Amino acid sequence: MPRIYLCMGPHCRSRGATDARATLEHALWQAGLLGRVECIASGCQDRCALGPNLLVQPGGRRWHGLTPQHLRELLAFLKDTDV
Ligand code: FES
Repeated sequence: MPRIYLCMGPHCRSRGATDARATLEHALWQAGLLGRVECIASGCQDRCALGPNLLVQPGGRRWHGLTPQHLRELLAFLKDTDV
């Protein structure tokens, strides 16, 4: 099962990670991917100035400075990986 690690460290939270998490979980639900993708709140990913940050495993694909466009890209990426 793919795992999404969304950084909830202090810098990413101050840059909007909490809102990004809610938006991500809603988008996964809308796309029918809840239960097929694990969404995990991670600690600091050592890219604080670029946050909010997100890492997808397996594969190690990262997104920085999450925007709604990035979330659309993430959903397309997950669908392309045959989740
Ligand atoms: S707090 Fe998110 S990368 Fe450091």
